[in-house]
Amino acid sequence: MLEKHFSGEKATLTLDGTTYELPVIIGTEGEKAVDIRALRSTTGYITMDSGFMNTGSCSSAITFLDGEQGILSYRGYGIEDLAESCSFVEVAYLLVHGNLPTPKELGSFSRMLGEFAMLHENMIHFFDGFPPNAAPMAILSSMVNSLSSFYPEMTNNPLENIDLMAARLISKVRTIAAFSYKKSMGHPLVYPRHDLSYCANFLNMMFDSPVRPYEVNDVVVAVLNKLLILHGDHEQNCSTSTVRLVGSARVNLYACISAGISALWGPLHGGANQAVVEMLERIHREGGDYRRCIARAKDPKDPFRLVGFGHRVYKTHDPRSRIIKKACDDVLAALRIDDPLLHIAKEIEEAVLKDEYFVERHLYPNVDFYSGIIYRAIGIPTDMFTVMFALGRLPGWIAHWKEMWDDPNWRIGRPRQIYVGPRRRPFVPLKERTLENV
Ligand code: CMC
Repeated sequence: MLEKHFSGEKATLTLDGTTYELPVIIGTEGEKAVDIRALRSTTGYITMDSGFMNTGSCSSAITFLDGEQGILSYRGYGIEDLAESCSFVEVAYLLVHGNLPTPKELGSFSRMLGEFAMLHENMIHFFDGFPPNAAPMAILSSMVNSLSSFYPEMTNNPLENIDLMAARLISKVRTIAAFSYKKSMGHPLVYPRHDLSYCANFLNMMFDSPVRPYEVNDVVVAVLNKLLILHGDHEQNCSTSTVRLVGSARVNLYACISAGISALWGPLHGGANQAVVEMLERIHREGGDYRRCIARAKDPKDPFRLVGFGHRVYKTHDPRSRIIKKACDDVLAALRIDDPLLHIAKEIEEAVLKDEYFVERHLYPNVDFYSGIIYRAIGIPTDMFTVMFALGRLPGWIAHWKEMWDDPNWRIGRPRQIYVGPRRRPFVPLKERTLENV
């Protein structure tokens, strides 16, 4: 895949008086890279790039994103079209298989999702072992890791079984997520149903109860589809890179996804959707004055950040955030909800987009700024927001794991470092050690 993209041009680099030529790579949409894979073996130097701000770790045909122009596409399709016209299951198929499904392919993929929705009954006992207030992300990550012991066929020739594993994971993660919520409430589990669509089935498992049957609401199903699609993939973000890095050691898919879920949990990554609503609730409780938050976010001595703003790659509006903001207005209107948090969020956005500090640093609302307000409106509890992000991101993680596994340029991920500790020194036996000689 990568070899086709060598442009023939060379970059030159002079080190210690010797000039080296480095091949230039140009991607499908024109992104440029200098190939330094032979740098250390030919020059003895490594590159230093904390946070991998300039490092391409792989080539990929899954997602394209242009952070300067605010463009995002999956497998060549604009995110706006997918969010407007597809179901999450169609987009999951697109991400994992590379093309949009035909009606027949969609039918058989959906049937697989229906078939795999149950959990092994032994797994259900695991939920009882968690304390009542366990974080749903901890439960999700542990349960997904445990799938590898129930489905060990995976470990042999994974690419032969990838369709099966992908459908199994996408289906079962939904059940695990809903069961973890029911357990946290102390309510009876609601098993998956064959006759419901992916999102309706999830909502039914979350909200149906013996005393109040759940009625599927099309507005809620549609907005959930949209949110999951918008979270489907985002190229080499922290959790996806985690899935790839763990997988590069040839670890099974379930363990890699479990690691990705853990990475997503962080408040700088997927955990931001929960942190945003907690911040808005705090502002609301304290009378609605958001200006103190903005002032704190700008204070270099205060570690506080205005969650829901800023992105490593987008230096303009995040296209997902625009779609989510509109969906938020639409769904709250359709459900006749007047959420004071939405008013506060809009006031914050308006103030921030005019504020020199944020303008200079290109800080715009990201995917997490408005999504939590929708989740609240459809009854998802705050500590489940990041689980919802994981449900959406799952097909992307699977697609990256599959691509990595099949990549002829694959190597185990193993960065280098510059050692800055003490130089080699004489060992002092325990009995002779003093504060002066250690
Ligand atoms: N509030 C206040 N200042 C900020 C913010 C923010 N939300 N984000 C960045 N900055 C400042 C930062 O202090 C730095 O200022 P200075 O140049 O004066 O030191 C400058 O902007 C550049 O920030 P950075 O930390 O170097 O940027 P980064 O690319 O390493 O970090 C980020 C990206 C998303 C971690 C960061 O913008 C952030 O912490 N945002 C808040 C958390 C958040 O909303 N995360 C969700 C990200 S999108 C979805 C996802 O990935 O899951």
